[in-house]
Amino acid sequence: MPLSETETGANGAAAVRDFDIVSAGFHADPMPTLARMRAAGPLVPMKLPIMGKIWLTTTHQASVELLKDHDRFVRDPGNAGSRTQARVLKVLPRTLGLLALNMLGHDDPEHRRLRGLVDQAFQRKGIAALEPMIAATADRLLDRLEGRGEADLMADYCRDLPLSVICAMLGLPEKDHGWFKAWLGGLTDTANVWAVLKAVPGVWRIVSYLRRVSRPGGGASPDGLIAALREAEGEDGRLSEDELVSMIFLLFGAGQETTTHLISGGLWALMAHAGERQRLADDPTLMPTAVEECLRFVSPVQMTKPRFARADFEWQGMAVKRGEMFSAFLSAANADPEKFDDPRRFDIGRHPNPHLSFGTGVHFCLGFQLARLETRVAIERLLARFPAMRLAVELERIVWRKRVGIRALAQLPVRFAA
Ligand code: HEM
Repeated sequence: MPLSETETGANGAAAVRDFDIVSAGFHADPMPTLARMRAAGPLVPMKLPIMGKIWLTTTHQASVELLKDHDRFVRDPGNAGSRTQARVLKVLPRTLGLLALNMLGHDDPEHRRLRGLVDQAFQRKGIAALEPMIAATADRLLDRLEGRGEADLMADYCRDLPLSVICAMLGLPEKDHGWFKAWLGGLTDTANVWAVLKAVPGVWRIVSYLRRVSRPGGGASPDGLIAALREAEGEDGRLSEDELVSMIFLLFGAGQETTTHLISGGLWALMAHAGERQRLADDPTLMPTAVEECLRFVSPVQMTKPRFARADFEWQGMAVKRGEMFSAFLSAANADPEKFDDPRRFDIGRHPNPHLSFGTGVHFCLGFQLARLETRVAIERLLARFPAMRLAVELERIVWRKRVGIRALAQLPVRFAA
C-alpha cells in the first residue's frame, strides 16, 4: 500500500507520495509496487535520495512522451531556466565538473555533435565484429570456474565480462582492470548520500587516470576508441580534452555496470523460471527474444536521467511548471498491462516486446547492440559449459542491493553440478 494517501498538499500542489522504490525488498519483486504506483496515476510525485522532488512516469505512453518530446522536456536544466547546475559546476573542481559535459547531459545541437563522434563505432557491423573477442573473453573467465563446485557469478563472471569488453573497445590497458574493479566496487549504495560522497575520491582517481591515459603516449591502444577520439580532438577543436575525458567516462560507466546487471539479472530470471530455461535449452533459436525479455523483466536501468520542463504547460492532466523535474520510470513502463499481456509472466518467446529498457528519443542507448550481443554471448557460453548449473541458495535468499534507479543483485551464488 502507498504509505501516504494524500493526493494534494495544503496549497493545492501535489504532495509527494511515499512508495518504496529503493529497498532490497522492492528490487526482489518490484511489480506489485509498480502496479500500485500506476493505479495512482501516470505521473507520481516522489522524493528521491540525492535528487529530491521528481515526477515519475508510470505508464508506457507517458514514458515515451516524456522521452520523445524534446521541445517541452530537456536534459540541461539551463535550457529550462535553472542556473543551479551552472553555479554548482562553477565551484566544483574541474575534475568532477567535466563529468557533466557528456552527451547524456546535453540537448541538441551539442548532444548531436558529441554523439556523432562515436555513433559510427557503435553501428551494428562494427559491434558484430566484436563477437569473437567477447566469446574468447567469456571462455577465459569460465576457465577459471572449472573444477569449482560453486561460485558467485556476480563477482566471478558478470562484472568481469563487460569490464574487459569496454576496456578493449576503448583501448584501455588490460593490466589496469583490477584497479577499475576496486574503484567500481566502491559505489554500491547510491541511495545514501554518504556512500556517494565516499565514492568521490574513486571517481576523482579514475578521471585523472583517464586523462593521463588518453594523452599521446599515455598507454591507450592505437586501435581503440580513445585514439580515434583523440584524432577528432585535433580536428578544429571538434572535441575538447575535457569533453573527451567525459565521453570516455560515460562510455566506461554506461557500458559496464548496466550490462553486468542485465547478464546477472537475466541468469537469475532463467534460473528462477525452470520451465523457460528448459524451453531455451530445447530451442536455442529463442535466444534473441529471450534477451529482450530479460531486458523487460529485469529492467536493469529502472529510470532515466531527469528531464526538465522548458515552460508551463498541461500534460497528462497536470499543470506542469517550468523547471519541474521528471524521469521515465522504465521498469513501470515495462510492466504496463496496457502494453504487455500478463506483464508479470517471464516469457522468453514474447513478441512483440516494445520494452523501454534502452530508453527512447534522441538519448536512446548508444550501446544497445553491444549490450544485446554481450548478454547473448555471456548466457550462451555459460549455459553451454555448465548446463546443470542452478542457484546455490533458495530463490528467496537471493539478495538485491538497495539502489535508486538500478536493479542490481548483490551476489549470484550458483552450484555447477546438478
Ligand atoms: C543492459 C545494458 C544497458 C542498458 C539497460 C542501457 C540503458 C540506457 C538507457 C535507459 C539510456 C537512456 C538514458 C536517458 O534517456 O536518460 C542509455 C543511454 C546511453 N547508453 Fe546505455 N544501456 C546499456 C548498455 C550500454 C552500453 C554497453 C553502452 C556503451 C558502451 C551504453 C552507452 C550509453 C550512452 C553513451 C548513452 C547516452 C546516449 C545519449 O545521450 O545520446 N549503454 N542507456
